[in-house]
Amino acid sequence: MIEINPWSSRIYEDYGKLMKDFGIEEFREDLWRDLPNPHKLIRRGIVFGHRDFGRIKRAIVEKKRWAILTGLMPSGKMHLGHKMVIDQVKYYQDIGADIFVAVADIEAYATRNISLKESEKIALEEYIPYYIALGLDPERSQVYFQSKRSEVKDLAYIFGRKVNWSQLMATYGFDGSTNMSHAFAPLIQAGDILHVQLEKFGGVRPTLVPVGIDQDPHLRLCRDISRSFRFFNVEKTNDGRVGIFFKLDVDVKRRLDCVENVLRSLGINKMKRIDNYKAIYLEENIDIGKLDEEISKVEVKEGGYGFLQPSSTYHRLMTGLDGEKMSSSRPQSAIFLSDDEETVRKKVFSAKTGGRVSLEEQRKYGGEPEKCMIYELFLYHLIENEDELKEIYNNCKNGELKCGDCKKLATQILNSMLKEIRERKGSKDEIKKIIAN
Ligand code: TRP
Ligand code: SF4
Repeated sequence: MIEINPWSSRIYEDYGKLMKDFGIEEFREDLWRDLPNPHKLIRRGIVFGHRDFGRIKRAIVEKKRWAILTGLMPSGKMHLGHKMVIDQVKYYQDIGADIFVAVADIEAYATRNISLKESEKIALEEYIPYYIALGLDPERSQVYFQSKRSEVKDLAYIFGRKVNWSQLMATYGFDGSTNMSHAFAPLIQAGDILHVQLEKFGGVRPTLVPVGIDQDPHLRLCRDISRSFRFFNVEKTNDGRVGIFFKLDVDVKRRLDCVENVLRSLGINKMKRIDNYKAIYLEENIDIGKLDEEISKVEVKEGGYGFLQPSSTYHRLMTGLDGEKMSSSRPQSAIFLSDDEETVRKKVFSAKTGGRVSLEEQRKYGGEPEKCMIYELFLYHLIENEDELKEIYNNCKNGELKCGDCKKLATQILNSMLKEIRERKGSKDEIKKIIAN
């Protein structure tokens, strides 16, 4: 079994295996087809996996409130890999989500030894202005610092009660030498993800976390945590019924009464209640997700958190221009949003392509766009139109296209895109507006 370590620099190639090992589901077309103008990262299968996206889809279709939460560590400069995340957030903003973006300054301190001050500077000067340039609406989004949002830190501490060291060792490969700040980082991330469901931040609602596959361990942990703070489990039983199980030992009768009332108000009358088992069984085959959401509201009224398990999507991580992992610490591997025209040209021209050793061979055998970093740029960022993209793909395959021409085209589109982004960088006022602590 492959382990996923969110802090390592490895690139994951066998996504299929990871999905199988960890129970991530394929982000199939029937899930996203009905979304308004599906984003190109979605249409093209770059967002390839999910957990529980059905909950989000339902919120969108039924026009209910839902939230997006994601986070970025402010380390170094913002590159195209980071842009991908914000592109998705912007898309979800356009279709109605409440937007939250964490500046992961505590995590950067814990895992990369970047001081909180330094993170603040990088976030203010680099990341947040670009979030605005990429379309996040300062009026409708909250960018916050982990270290400044006490609710996030408080939740992290509270969550710690339900997470033990064995679990962290198994999930992250921590051992006796792991420092405590690092050990605490996953709990802070759970605080990020779940705090948006607190009353103050909009209340219990479906929450989607769009991330790279390397973040999945955090999502698994967070989903476990959110479940363990619920009063009730709502689940399919082995014999195909739906069971609602109360997990606490106090006030059993009254709390089952509450749930019974909810069920009746939903028009569900066929039920078998067994107080001794602290359970209610339903005969009808009803939508568990929906029922769970109703019951979570009761829990909030009863003084609980009522957290819904967060949903997530997973995107492929962009490969570096040199074919290794894209990383801020290796400037030649990444295009930064701040790169000037000449730098872009140089980086693009020295990028790894799927071209053959000679032009002659290229004509004869065709290129390999699947292995080409220039094609990846087209696919992820530069070409919106599907037909245009397909044409490049086909012409590469059949040997008509020359890598030099592709590189020229990529440089040209990239430079005009970056120019536009830089011109739209957030002003001081906008930055002030989007930051919410
Ligand atoms: N751990 C993420 C990273 O390494 C950053 C992050 C912090 C995050 N909090 C989050 C991502 C919440 C998603 C959701 O980049
Ligand atoms: Fe890549 Fe274009 Fe060369 Fe094909 S022709 S390998 S797409 S650069």
